[in-house]
Amino acid sequence: MNEDKKNRKTVLVVGATGYIGNAVVTESVQQGYDVIAVTRSLKSDCQFSGAEVVLADVTDPASMAKVFHRKIDIVISCLACRSGLAKDFDDIDYKATLNILNAAKENGTNQFILLSAICVRKPDLPLQLAKLKMEDELMRAGIDYTIVRPTAYFWVFEAQTRMIENGKPGFLIGTGDQASHNPIAKQDLAEYMVGSIDNSERINRLFIIGGPETAENIVTYKDSLLIVFESISKEPKLISIPCWLFRAFIQLTRFIGLFSRKIGVFSEFLKITYYYTNNDMRAPGYGSITIRQHLMDTVRKAQT
Ligand SMILES: NC(=O)c1ccc[n+]([C@@H]2O[C@H](COP(=O)([O-])OP(=O)(O)OC[C@H]3O[C@@H](n4cnc5c(N)ncnc54)[C@H](OP(=O)(O)O)[C@@H]3O)[C@@H](O)[C@H]2O)c1
Repeated sequence: MNEDKKNRKTVLVVGATGYIGNAVVTESVQQGYDVIAVTRSLKSDCQFSGAEVVLADVTDPASMAKVFHRKIDIVISCLACRSGLAKDFDDIDYKATLNILNAAKENGTNQFILLSAICVRKPDLPLQLAKLKMEDELMRAGIDYTIVRPTAYFWVFEAQTRMIENGKPGFLIGTGDQASHNPIAKQDLAEYMVGSIDNSERINRLFIIGGPETAENIVTYKDSLLIVFESISKEPKLISIPCWLFRAFIQLTRFIGLFSRKIGVFSEFLKITYYYTNNDMRAPGYGSITIRQHLMDTVRKAQT
């Protein structure tokens, strides 16, 4: 922790147990802010050291009002529906986040930093529509804001690594070369978000950012799978699912999903996967950690 405690402002983080939210808590503490991490439950794998943890229900305005009973200088929202149907995305990415914005306005909070996603540029999915509605509310709220729309995170590839380590092949949709992106490390994104606090160049603006724009970090989906195989020293074994077959499967699960919530949620997940593997998501680069470096380091750490 920064012992100087230069930044005695209070930063409240919602979505504090999330992949990015937890990194934002760590980064805010390191930068010397007084940090309040809002969570609905205590998770053992989350790092809250140096932060105050407050249990609350983000879907309940009364619960949020209690969290905001003291002066909050900055809110950073990393809240997001983990998976679900259209209504679930609307409930969390829009309505619950709006509850927090309303509480922040009431509180006189100075700045609201919202984690959104690059994919809202070309909206097609319920999660994107919910995020766009929230971005719009924030821009019209009369509070200083910063909206950050990042590219994909590394955890997507960590899940692939575990499957491949367990002997599964890497699955491609189509050739896996349809789209490229520059994914971003959670540490780099957290640094960018916390670095937006009181940053006059980032007030009332929207930023699209990705990880380093270097040759080894601008990857297609197939490239990233090949890096996964390389990182665990395995011969690449790739299976391609034709795009038409994947789309047909989405339609089938969408239909069955009318009768089964579980299948409906799975269908929504497939749609998101298809979208991400078929749309270019290049963005201005930030940070230093590349996907290759991250995967190599992860495997090295696991082996020591
Ligand atoms: N994955 C990507 O590659 C990618 C790329 C660009 C942008 N994004 C966007 O970045 C954002 C954050 O992503 P992430 O991977 O950090 O998300 P995440 O790990 O799924 O975290 C979501 C957070 O929201 C909280 N949350 C969800 N539903 C809740 C509820 N009903 N009540 C209270 N809290 C709830 C979760 O709390 P619990 O721990 O209690 O569930 C968690 O803290 C999302 O908006 C995502 O769409 C993702």
